[in-house]
Amino acid sequence: MTRAAGAPLLEVRDLRVTFRSRTGEVAAVRGIDLTLEAGRILGLVGESGCGKSAAMRALLGLNPPGAVTSGAAWFEGADLLRLKPRELRRHRGGSIGMVLQNPLSALNPVHRIGDQIAEAICLHRPRLSRARARGEAIELMARLSIADPERRAGLYPHEFSGGMRQRVAIAIAVANGPRLLIADEPTTALDVTVQAQIIELLVELTRARGLGMILITHDLGLLAGIADQVAVMYAGRIVETGPTEEVFAARGHPYTRGLLASLPRIDARVGLTSIGGSPPSPARLPEGCAFHPRCPFSVDMCATGAPTLELHGGVQVACHRREAIPPPERAP
Ligand SMILES: Nc1ncnc2c1ncn2[C@@H]1O[C@H](COP(=O)(O)OP(=O)(O)O)[C@@H](O)[C@H]1O
Ligand code: SF4
Ligand SMILES: [Mg+2]
Repeated sequence: MTRAAGAPLLEVRDLRVTFRSRTGEVAAVRGIDLTLEAGRILGLVGESGCGKSAAMRALLGLNPPGAVTSGAAWFEGADLLRLKPRELRRHRGGSIGMVLQNPLSALNPVHRIGDQIAEAICLHRPRLSRARARGEAIELMARLSIADPERRAGLYPHEFSGGMRQRVAIAIAVANGPRLLIADEPTTALDVTVQAQIIELLVELTRARGLGMILITHDLGLLAGIADQVAVMYAGRIVETGPTEEVFAARGHPYTRGLLASLPRIDARVGLTSIGGSPPSPARLPEGCAFHPRCPFSVDMCATGAPTLELHGGVQVACHRREAIPPPERAP
């Protein structure tokens, strides 16, 4: 089955990922839907352990072999979840680029930076001469604001700072002109100034090349003014999603409020200071709404029935009490 032209760049439907561990099944992703248009940025946010990486790795077949994946992920007319490993490899580093939290995992410590970018360029264009690929690698480094690229191309990863290494990892991810870029916590290991530069670089690339980007982060604040859409993930499900500004304004789900309240903020009167505790292990999920043990608005029914996403003022929210929870107070 294929999709008609004019479909979104990426359409994920009812994606589920279950890991088998010695203690039983771990339902890390429990049925998520995502839609991304070309040229748009989708922020996927949630605390550590909510299933963000497992979901994105599933799209590229990068979860460990024991993982069971179901659902659909339509990308350019094909369901990524149904492709043969060989076909999926063609997408990886080709039409889909991935940038990870730790750039060292994308770099080989014993090869020079310029050679590694050139190798990524040659991966999908095997007939390109080595010299040409190297020239393109240096051009790409310059475009990603790596100063003195000719000299730096001859250096090794350990001779680069964390921020520079992340630029190189981005160069490798975009070397073959991907249409979709998945950036999984690309700045978590970096200091705040470098973090801002890298995010700016990713946003520029996305806008200039008309790519679609999924930007994964545990920091909701990072997405303000950057992402077009936000999907908030908790315990393997999306609990709130919509246009970024509307999600920030409505904070319809208590978890979103908690995430926003955990940020250093100007507007402190949001009704929830920060969320206590941590997300449940997917091996031991609470009954009902998985957020109920931490939720200040929880009532009896929250412990028995799981809420589903429903439209509430322009934003989809999965909360039994979405009508009853007062809108956040704003500082005058
Ligand atoms: N290979 C695996 N085997 C078993 N459990 C896993 C595996 N990978 C991830 N998990 C579990 O799945 C859950 C989601 O993990 P992950 O997707 O990495 O979360 P996030 O990226 O949101 O921090 C976590 O509880 C994690 O422990
Ligand atoms: S369903 Fe209940 S526990 Fe879950 S977020 Fe809403 S109020 Fe809180
Ligand atoms: Mg992760």
